[in-house]
Formats: sequence, C-alpha cells, structure tokens
Amino acid sequence: MRILITGASGLLGINLALEAAAHHEVYGTAKDHLIHTDRFRVMPCDLLAPGAVERLLDQTQPDWVIHCAALANVDACEANPVLAQQSNSDLPFLLATHVARGGARLVHISTDAVFDGQRGLYREEDQPNPLSVYARSKLEGELAVAAANPEAIIARVNLFGWSPSGRRSLAEFFFNNLNAGKRVMGFTDVYFCPLLANDLAAIFLMMLQKKLRGLYHVVSRECLSKYEFSLRLAQQFNLDSSLIDPTSVEQGGLTAARSPRLTLRVDKLAEALGEPPPDISTGMHRFFDLYQQGYPRWLKGMAGAVTPTDHG
Ligand SMILES: NC(=O)c1ccc[n+]([C@@H]2O[C@H](COP(=O)([O-])OP(=O)(O)OC[C@H]3O[C@@H](n4cnc5c(N)ncnc54)[C@H](OP(=O)(O)O)[C@@H]3O)[C@@H](O)[C@H]2O)c1
Repeated sequence: MRILITGASGLLGINLALEAAAHHEVYGTAKDHLIHTDRFRVMPCDLLAPGAVERLLDQTQPDWVIHCAALANVDACEANPVLAQQSNSDLPFLLATHVARGGARLVHISTDAVFDGQRGLYREEDQPNPLSVYARSKLEGELAVAAANPEAIIARVNLFGWSPSGRRSLAEFFFNNLNAGKRVMGFTDVYFCPLLANDLAAIFLMMLQKKLRGLYHVVSRECLSKYEFSLRLAQQFNLDSSLIDPTSVEQGGLTAARSPRLTLRVDKLAEALGEPPPDISTGMHRFFDLYQQGYPRWLKGMAGAVTPTDHG
C-alpha cells in the first residue's frame, strides 16, 4: 500500500511514518521542520498554500492518507484563532473532500480535548463541549471531515512518545527535566489516557486494514492523572520522583482552559479490533526500550538537531 502521512515532522507523524515504512511505501509531509531520512519520501509542503493539497495527492497517488498535520499547540491556537481554524478545520475539510474524490481511504486525527472533562469516561456518542480555541477548531474539523467523506476514520487520540525536537510530548518534558535534576509540577487533577505514538501507529494500520469507518476513541485502555504518569515515568527510568511536586492545575499558570477528566472509553475500538489498546505500563516499557536503543537520538538526527553534547 502507498500511504501519505501529513505532518510527518511532528510527534505522531514521524513515529507513524517510521512504523508504516517497515511494511508500506510511505510519503510524509513536512513544513517548517524538514526531516532527513531514507526510510520514507519526505514531501516539503505548506498544506495551507493554494493548490497544495491537490498537488500533493496528484504527485503521491496514495491508497491511504493519514492526516496528522495540525496546529496542535493549545496556547498557539489561543494566540492565533484564525490560523487554528484554517489548520484544524478548513484544511481537514479540503483534504477529506479531495481524498473522497480520488478514492483513497482517510484517517483524520482528532483529540480527546473535544470534551469538557467534567464527567469523564466518554463514549463516541457523547456530546462534545470543547473549552479552548484548539479544541473547538478540532471539533469543527471532525464534523467537516465526516460531512465531506463519510468513509473516513476519525480518531480521537492522546499520545506520548519521542519527537524530533526532543521537546514535544509530556513524557519528554518529564524525562528532560528529571534527567537534568530539575523540579517539575505534576497535575493531580488532570486525567488522560495516553498511548505511545508507536503503538498508536500500529493500531491505525490495523484500523485501515480492517476497513473501519467513522468515529473511534483511540487511547490507552488505562487512564491516570498527569502526576501519576510522571511517577510511572520516573520509576521506569530510575529518576528521582521527589523532584515532582503534586500540583493542582489551578496553580499551573496555563493560558488555555484544560479539561480535567479527559478519560475516554475504548470499547468500540476493542470490539472492532478484537483486542483492547495497550495499558500505560506497556507503553512506558516500550518508551524506555526505545530510549535504550538510541531512538530519541536517531530522531533528532533526522531533524538535524543532534549536537556533540546531546546524549538524549
Ligand atoms: N500531542 C498530543 O498529545 C496530542 C493529543 C491529542 C491529539 N493530538 C492530535 O494529533 C495530531 C498530531 O499532533 P502532534 O502532537 O504530532 O503535532 P506536532 O508535533 O505539533 O506536529 C504537527 C505537524 O503538523 C505540521 N503542519 C502544521 N501546519 C502545517 C501546514 N500548514 N502544512 C503542512 N504541515 C503542517 C507540522 O509541520 P512542521 O513542524 O514541519 O511545520 C508538523 O509536522 C494532531 O491532529 C493533534 O491535534 C495530539
């Protein structure tokens, strides 16, 4: 199969492109952060430029498209709502429309943050209530994709993993600071169910192979607070957990509103795939194994970000 992955320079996109490239022919787009690799074909492009989506699909002729590109930084969306709307709503609509016309299959990536997090344990049919510019733009993107391309898979995710910048995921934040002996806050009242990006990649490929369609929650089967997550990471990497201050999100000084209980049910996915997604410990073990294999440094090398003093 030929797979086009948008946002292949980002946290999810690069891990997905590398996993998929082991079995498929992969094209991956990058905009500001070029990736240097022979594992997949890198397509430099700004997807918001006029005609870019049409040109890209024409050049690559994919069987499958996995749309990871987004303005995914919550505070950047708050600062630039117009760009958030263009990147997270208008672009997915355009892509979904053209993919539907060309006959390829689409996976569109959305977020757990479409919910307000007051209740938790959300199912796919529960009513979203986004709190931030980012979350609103992502929900609009979901609705636009579903309208333009009813065959598309829309996957609400949350993830952690190693990124080309070494700074993109929450797990890297905790690892970088604890490894440097710095104190960090761990929110005790914000819950989530993150999957390792590499495991998420394998699940997407299974979803495509099984020809699923429609909305799915694609997160870990286990949920925990961000504080508990930081403790698990410290334990896995044998780092000093006394550097983590248990803190309420109210004291965190964050710009955009965060949903406190973003716990999602994965029954629909488990039934469709015949098995539930991995728990946090499984993902954390693999995150550690990847570290031991030098994977973070390999990724940084692809981004041209390795320096002689970089031991990441
Ligand atoms: N990270 C999380 O914890 C999380 C949680 C829930 C949902 N999600 C969703 O998962 C998806 C991937 O997130 P991520 O964390 O991997 O994001 P990321 O690391 O910030 O990567 C975003 C990617 O989008 C690309 N991009 C942005 N605007 C573009 C444009 N106009 N044209 C072409 N490419 C563009 C970026 O390219 P350059 O960097 O090269 O400019 C980058 O490759 C997003 O849909 C996000 O909403 C993420």
